[in-house]
Amino acid sequence: MLEQRVSVIGAGAMGEALIRSLLGRDLVSAETLMAADVRRSKLDEIRQRFGIGVTADNREAARFGQVLILAVKPQQIEGVLRQIGPDLTTGHLVISIAAGVRLRFLESHLPEGVPVVRVMPNVACLVGEAASGFSLGRWAGDPEAERARRILGAVGQVFLLPEPLLDAVTGLSGSGPAFLGLVIDALADGGVACGLPRDVAVKLAAQTCLGAARLVLEAGIHPAVLRDMVTSPGGTSAAGLQVLEERALRAALAGAVRAATRRSQELSAGGSEEEPANGRLS
Ligand SMILES: NC(=O)c1ccc[n+]([C@@H]2O[C@H](COP(=O)([O-])OP(=O)(O)OC[C@H]3O[C@@H](n4cnc5c(N)ncnc54)[C@H](OP(=O)(O)O)[C@@H]3O)[C@@H](O)[C@H]2O)c1
Repeated sequence: MLEQRVSVIGAGAMGEALIRSLLGRDLVSAETLMAADVRRSKLDEIRQRFGIGVTADNREAARFGQVLILAVKPQQIEGVLRQIGPDLTTGHLVISIAAGVRLRFLESHLPEGVPVVRVMPNVACLVGEAASGFSLGRWAGDPEAERARRILGAVGQVFLLPEPLLDAVTGLSGSGPAFLGLVIDALADGGVACGLPRDVAVKLAAQTCLGAARLVLEAGIHPAVLRDMVTSPGGTSAAGLQVLEERALRAALAGAVRAATRRSQELSAGGSEEEPANGRLS
């Protein structure tokens, strides 16, 4: 269990997923967790669902929490930082999950010395299977990295990286669910063309992706070994793989990650030090 009280500012899709996972993994108790949001109806729902303290006043949340998770949209971040800044001390930890909002921007709106962590999570946060990268601000050290790792670990896998690499995280795991949505849909189309009912085909395709991912992550099987495991000479997988190689699937997917990374870099550069990027980074 974390020893600090936690406030989640912005109780939307991501904020609620974090609240659910933090409680579900017993990282915090209901008494040590608070949610803040501008929507009263949302706060009532959160209080009923999780039994935690709620407030429409971000400053109250800042005074309650020693760890503050900022889960508002990127364009709302600056306003929130201005509200909570006066109440923050070097004993707080600020964790921002706002896509594309850089550490320098976050730090420039907070008192000197306040530790800040920037996270790039992905949509699978909603089901506790996020693939996240995070970076430390200049006032954050090992204790803050460890705390952030435990919090983000509640919603999936997390990797500490230098901030410039968060664009690549955006291009791979941030945009990846969109790429894999296409892949699942295409696999299902193939199954339907071969006679499977659509609902069965979608579930077979999605479960196949999940199973392959778990073999890589949990059984430690290298992706190339996994391919060889199911590809017997002259067999069905060999026939399918030949089509994928002829149509350059590998180059297409790697190219998609590079294009998404480049776009993330462009959008981040477009937001000046004084203005966060506008939230198209996921
Ligand atoms: N969703 C993803 O897949 C994903 C992936 C990676 C990163 N992220 C990042 O996660 C963050 C949250 O995304 P989300 O999808 O959870 O957004 P969301 O569902 O819109 O949640 C944000 C919540 O914050 C509320 N809010 C707005 N202004 C506020 C303020 N000043 N103080 C307190 N609460 C305020 C919003 O209310 P209103 O609706 O009334 O504005 C909303 O309830 C974003 O910065 C996004 O870049 C999201």
